[in-house]
Formats: sequence, structure tokens, C-alpha cells
Amino acid sequence: MYYEPDSIEINNRKFEKLYSFEILQARVEELAKKINRDYAGQTLEIVVVLTGAMPFATELMKFLTLDVRVRTISAKSYGAAMESSGKVNIGRNDLKLLGENVLIVEDIVDSGRTMHTLTAKLRRNNPKSIEIAALFLKPKKLEFPVVAKYVGFEIGPEFVVGFGLDYDEQGRQYPAIYCLAD
Ligand code: IMP
Ligand code: MG
Repeated sequence: MYYEPDSIEINNRKFEKLYSFEILQARVEELAKKINRDYAGQTLEIVVVLTGAMPFATELMKFLTLDVRVRTISAKSYGAAMESSGKVNIGRNDLKLLGENVLIVEDIVDSGRTMHTLTAKLRRNNPKSIEIAALFLKPKKLEFPVVAKYVGFEIGPEFVVGFGLDYDEQGRQYPAIYCLAD
């Protein structure tokens, strides 16, 4: 069985379990079913945003019944552990997306800066459509005009880790999601 404690500690900060893997997976299945309906009969290019979205994408793919192709792109907003620097660094974009339906798979939309920057970049590849699937959205922190068509959970402004999300590059390996407690 996988390791899913009720609380974890990283750099002397305590995080408490917010959503178990079971709850996350059930919600991801619901999102996948909606995606299956919306893109029925079409092919879908999934663009997984590294690194944080890997576990979300892995679970999502298992439930997709479409003709799916999986791509990756890296996006980093450099900064201290819990702060975004205000600068987004997008990795090499040589994705062939001309005329394709693109679904960006992202872990979390916070200010929206990363998704705003990435969608603008991918639009230059001339896809047919481009949508965002984000496992988490912090509506209170949104500063950019980003609309994610598929959102797993709307959460408060608190920092979360686990299921791919990191605090100072730690905590990504946990199957559950944990919220900063102190
Ligand atoms: P943005 O402010 O929407 O651009 O979010 C930038 C990035 O910060 C996201 O892609 C995440 O990688 C990271 N991030 C934002 N909020 C959290 C959080 O609560 N936990 C872990 N990473 C986060
Ligand atoms: Mg990220």
C-alpha cells in the first residue's frame, strides 16, 4: 500500500491532509469523463506541464477513451519556496500542434501567470483549440485572465503540497494533497 500519512513536515513546516488519493482519483475520473464527452470523435493532444502535473496527468490518462497523444513542456516560475517570482520560464516548445485540439494539463492555477504565458506561447503553434485542465484553482488569487475549462477543486489561498506539487522541490511524491497548517 502507498504511504499516505495524515500530516507531513517539510522544512519544519507542518502540512495536514486535505484530500486523500481516493478523493483525488474520483474527481479526476469525473473530469476525464467530461473530457471524453466534450472531445468525442476527435483526437486530443495533451500537453503536460512539468513537473507538478505528472501525477494528475497519469491518473487522468487512465480514464480517457479518446485518441490521445501526450506531450510535455516545462514551466517554472522561479522564486522562493512559496512565492512566485513574477517571471515564467517556459522550456523548449517544438510541439507540432497545427490544427490540433490541445488540452494543457496543469497542477494548479494560482495567480494564473504561468497559464497565461503558456497559452500565449502555444497559440503560436496554431492549434485548432486550446483548453486548460487544472487539478486545483485558487480563485481568490487569480490575477490574470485565465479560464480553465476543467477544474478539479477550487481551494483557498493556502499553500498545498503532494500529488506532484512541491514546497521547495519537496513533497511531490505523496499520493494525497496536504495544506499548510501553521
Ligand atoms: P501561477 O501563479 O498561477 O503562475 O502559479 C505558478 C506555479 O506556482 C504553479 O504552476 C505551481 O507550480 C506553483 N504553485 C502555486 N500555488 C502552489 C501551491 O499551493 N503549492 C505548490 N505549488 C504552487
Ligand atoms: Mg506548476
